[in-house]
Amino acid sequence: MFFTKNVLPLSSLNASSCKASGTLDEWLSQWSAKPCTAVRIRQVPQRALKELFFCFYIFIFMADNFLEKRMEQYRAHSSASSNNKSKDSLATLLAKNRSTRGYDASYKVRIDQLRRIVAVNNKLASARNRQPLRFRLVTADEAQKVLPFIRMGAGLKELGLPLAGTEPNAFIVVCSTIEPRNSTYVDLGISVQSMLLQAVEMGLNGLCIMDFDCDRLAGSLQLQYSPLLVVAIGKSAEKIRLVDIKENDDHSYYRENGVHYVPKVVVEDLIIE
Ligand SMILES: Cc1cc2nc3c(=O)[nH]c(=O)nc-3n(C[C@H](O)[C@H](O)[C@H](O)COP(=O)(O)O)c2cc1C
Repeated sequence: MFFTKNVLPLSSLNASSCKASGTLDEWLSQWSAKPCTAVRIRQVPQRALKELFFCFYIFIFMADNFLEKRMEQYRAHSSASSNNKSKDSLATLLAKNRSTRGYDASYKVRIDQLRRIVAVNNKLASARNRQPLRFRLVTADEAQKVLPFIRMGAGLKELGLPLAGTEPNAFIVVCSTIEPRNSTYVDLGISVQSMLLQAVEMGLNGLCIMDFDCDRLAGSLQLQYSPLLVVAIGKSAEKIRLVDIKENDDHSYYRENGVHYVPKVVVEDLIIE
């Protein structure tokens, strides 16, 4: 019982006590015998008082049942919607998390958005919990310090991606405080994928870029640590579709009629005996 449990002690408002006339009579007569400055209770007929209290009890019980039902509906609805949300949200984020090489130039990614994306990193696994990765945030005012040193879409060289006017204007340059070893690259993968999923959740997209001029980028941004990977971030201006393939089919991505197609090996072929 929502109301009686949360607002009124049930023991003080029990319907059976209403019917047990002795109890109520005693209580009423005690109550009406007490001096009252505002109203002369003694002058109110006891029968009218009883009826008034009975109506009050009925009202409380009706309100109680109504609120209880509403609470149950609310709990059922919120648990169902949170289940749905958590069930399809990862699938949706993963599907939307496509490597994007064309961005809406009118959309400038803000520094606070980059900070929010990088903030996922203090919740991630890291080999021996070393946490060697550091992140240099680059917004539109510094984009020219990065753009000349990165290469995008090597699989479609003839297109010269990114197309003029669709270049990314924000980047996260991931650096390592230690000489990279195998586990550093595992940390790197966990970090970058988590950041990209965060970006997608925020309505943005990104691209991992390992094809870049390390020394010139480090010099351009005056980095104190060696850069391992550049993540471009922005508002996508591309149409990208996934295509199922068998493991021995061609894996190359391609474009047709303005749509970028990305072949992905079907799950049955990913699982080995
Ligand atoms: C470690 C890594 C490095 C990558 N480096 C580049 C790169 O330098 N330039 C580029 O255009 N894409 C790069 N990509 C993006 C891949 O080409 C892309 O993941 C692949 O085409 C599949 O597309 P999808 O990410 O939409 O599934 C990189 C991806 C990964 C995981």
